[in-house]
Formats: sequence, structure tokens, C-alpha cells
Amino acid sequence: MANYAAIILGAGKGTRMKSEVPKVLHEVAGTPMLGHVLGALKELKVKRTVVVVGHGSESVREGFADSGVEFVEQTAQLGTGHAVMSAMGALKGFKGKVLVLSGDVPLITSATLRGLLRVHKKGRGEGEAALSFVSAILHDATGYGRVTRGANNAITSIVEQKDCTPVERLINEINTGLYLFDSEFLFKNIKKLKTANAQGEYYLPDLIGIAVAEGRPVRALTHMDVLEVMGVNNRVELARATAIMRIRILKELMLSGVTIIDPGATYIDASVRVGKDTVISPGVHLKGSTVIGAGCVIEEGVKIVDSRIGDGSIVKSSSVVEASRVGCYARIGPFAHLRPGNSLSDDVRIGNFVELKKCKVGRGSKAGHLSYLGDAVIGKDVNIGAGTITCNYDGKNKFVTTIADNVFVGSDSQLVAPVKVGKNAYVGSGTTVTKDVPAGALVVARVEQKIKKGWVAKKGRMAESVKKSVRKSASRSRKKIKRGK
Ligand code: UD1
Ligand code: CA
Repeated sequence: MANYAAIILGAGKGTRMKSEVPKVLHEVAGTPMLGHVLGALKELKVKRTVVVVGHGSESVREGFADSGVEFVEQTAQLGTGHAVMSAMGALKGFKGKVLVLSGDVPLITSATLRGLLRVHKKGRGEGEAALSFVSAILHDATGYGRVTRGANNAITSIVEQKDCTPVERLINEINTGLYLFDSEFLFKNIKKLKTANAQGEYYLPDLIGIAVAEGRPVRALTHMDVLEVMGVNNRVELARATAIMRIRILKELMLSGVTIIDPGATYIDASVRVGKDTVISPGVHLKGSTVIGAGCVIEEGVKIVDSRIGDGSIVKSSSVVEASRVGCYARIGPFAHLRPGNSLSDDVRIGNFVELKKCKVGRGSKAGHLSYLGDAVIGKDVNIGAGTITCNYDGKNKFVTTIADNVFVGSDSQLVAPVKVGKNAYVGSGTTVTKDVPAGALVVARVEQKIKKGWVAKKGRMAESVKKSVRKSASRSRKKIKRGK
């Protein structure tokens, strides 16, 4: 097994993106473009990966600090050849094969890269190539470097659009910017690049001409799926790449046993996992590190971010779940909002218009309607009545409400934290709990009920007499006006 290293070019400004964000950090289906390229590389077991950064290098380094790649800085962007020169120091002493990829080709697959390795190894009775690259045939090749071929269709060079003769401009085989080099050839020849061209830059593809001049084998893998090797240079291409990536993600999920009712209206990040027999309705957004179990139902318009949903759970329409854990066979929503930091056990039910933040909820507990529960530790089989509110914030600090197993909280109660309600206790409806409640106790704190018999009829008579006197005085003043007084 050969030794592989990779260089990913990502120092360019990405002028056409019109953005403050470095181009390779723009996201395609929730993952920065550079992340997709690294993902394709991962399956190839590349020993070392060097990312060339320049514009916005701080944020690129920060975003990929844990990815195991090395970074080199290209302080002035003098061309793709210069970018590779900048990476040579980091790979000093490396012997093997060097892949060079662009950080702005996010749809690249490991299958294509493996194809390039095969083409590189042998072809047409020749041995290993000194360099090989991926080409494609485009209907409109404008902007790309053109592949020129000579006798027997052998590759002779790559000519950039701006350096093309009118005849070369008619060529529709283009360079996709993905290369594989023999490391010795690369180290020896990268220094030979010159800037005598239309853009005054060091062109990496000039190495093709150099290899041909030395009589070394050069080969191309001509890719049939033009869209996969498409570079993203502006937001229109970014949206197009995202649309293609979405279809790829959804297709993979469907083939693994997930029902997606309308793939055209379902948005799932590449990083999300979904178990089989889960059914996903239209308008659903699943993002980040979300993991949905098997046999779940995710209804219309649900958004789930960085969360885990256990097997057999149902998340009903228009619910939002953020950075939370939900156990198995839970029922969430419709219109529930799980803000970050919740951990819900199995069989929990959270109903409509219930907002949860940093809550721990035990098995089988329920909060069915119109509640706010924040910083609460709720035990097993607890019933939270409609309209219950934990008053967890005094304007400065947040406090915890603890509700033990089997507690019944009546509707429209407030629990002023810090406060504890003991096991099996019963909170009477409408109570404001301000002090700890012992286990098994009933707590009621509300104005006692008074009955005034016959009050309505009496009030009715009073109202009638008032109306009569008002009418009398009004008619008196009308008469005065008529008499001209
Ligand atoms: C390049 C190729 C062209 C090919 C096309 C495919 C050259 C000279 N031309 O053109 O043959 O058809 O890609 O998409 O290589 N970069 C740096 N430092 C630099 C310049 C560029 O890191 O100094 C990076 C960019 O961030 C980008 C990649 O290299 O990720 C390609 O650069 P770009 O300017 O987009 O090259 P193209 O003009 O598209
Ligand atoms: Ca480009």
C-alpha cells in the first residue's frame, strides 16, 4: 500500500462569493465545503493532510482545529502552483503519492479519488504516472483550464482560459483541479514553475507540460458526472452544490430504510443519522449532530438541532428541539419547544405550547399543555398540569426546581425556585409554591373561595336602577336644549 499525503488548496479569497467568510467555510448542507473534501479523503486513509490557508486563515484553522489536519499559511496568493510550493516544507522528506485537491469542490467523492489512484497506477502498457488528474467534458468550458492532446490522443498540456489561443478555447475537455503526483516528481519540479502567463501567477497545471517534456507518463481520469467535480465560485453555484448534496444525503437515508415522504421539501445535514423505519414528513429540518432512532415519526415542520431522539418516539408538527436528549417512545409536540440542555427519559410526554430548558425529566412523566419548565429536575411519573410555570429566574440568577417521583402538579401552578416538592406530593391547582413541600403532602396556596348567594340577581337590579336614572337625566337635558335654555 502506497504512502499517501494530501494537499488541499484553500487560500484563495473567493472574490466572487462577495463574503466576509472565507470561501471554504461556506456551508453545503450544514458542513463547510472544506469539511466535505476532508470527508471524501477520510476513506482513502491518507497519512497526512496539509491545508493551505490564506484569506481568513484564523477562522479556517479554528473551524478545523480538531480535524487532525495540518495548516500552512500562504501569505500572498500567487497562484495554485505557489500554494502547493507553500505546502512543500510541511511535507519535507515525505515519499509516496501526493493528492492535490481544491477546497471549493465539495461534491467530490472518495470513489472518484480511488478512480484517480487506479488511473495513476497503470494505463496503456505504461507504468505508474508521474502525475495524473481528473478532467471532464463540458458543454461550456468557459473559465476552466483546457486539456490539450496530441498524437494518439496523448495529453500535452493544460492551458488556462486567459492563455488560450482561439482554437484552444474551442476545446471542451477541462481540468477539474484534482491531481495525484509522484512525490519525487513534485518536489523536483514544483520549483520550475514560472509566472510567464496572462495572470502572472504560478500555475500548478504547468507541471503537466513539464512532465510531458521530460517524457514522463501523464494520465487523466475523464469524469462523466460533471456536477460532482464542479467548483463553487459564487452563491449560485453554492446553492446548486447544496441541492445536489441534499439529494445525495436523502437518497442514502432512503436506501438505508428511512421513509422520506417528500425529498424535495426535506432538509437533512450530511452529519445527521437516522434509524430505519423512521418516517420523515415534509418541511422537516434535521441539523448538526442530530441522531434519530429507529421507528420514529417526525411530523411536518419539525426542526431538530444537535439532539438525540430515541427509538419509537414521535415528534409532532411544528416542534423545535435543540441540543437535547429524548428517550425512547416519547411524544413531543405539536408546537413544543425543547431549548438546549434537556434530558428526557423514555415514555415522556411533552405537549403543545410547552417550553423546556435545562430540564431532566424522568420516565413516564408528562407536561401536556402550556407550560414553562426551566432548570427543573423532574422525577418519574410526574404529572405537570396545564399552565405550570417554574419561576427559575430572579432577574440575576437561575435556580433549580426539584420535583420528586410521582408528584401531581395541578394546573396553573407556579413553582418559585429554588424549591423542592417531595415524592407523591400533590400541588393544588393555582398554587404558588414558595417553600419546600414534604413528601406525600398536599400544598394549596391561593385565596379561599367565597360564596355570595343571589349576588348576580342583586347586581342585575342595581344595574337596572342606575340605567334608569341615567336615561332620566339625559331626557331632561335634551328638553332644556329644545327650549333654548
Ligand atoms: C483552477 C485551474 C484550472 C481549473 C480550475 C478548476 C490553475 C492555474 N487553474 O482555476 O486549470 O480548470 O481550477 O476549478 O490552477 N488557491 C490558493 N492560493 C492561490 C490561488 C488559489 O490556495 O494563490 C486555491 C483557491 O482557494 C481554490 C483553488 O486554489 O481553492 C483553485 O483556485 P481558483 O482561483 O479557484 O482557480 P481557478 O481559476 O478556478
Ligand atoms: Ca475555482
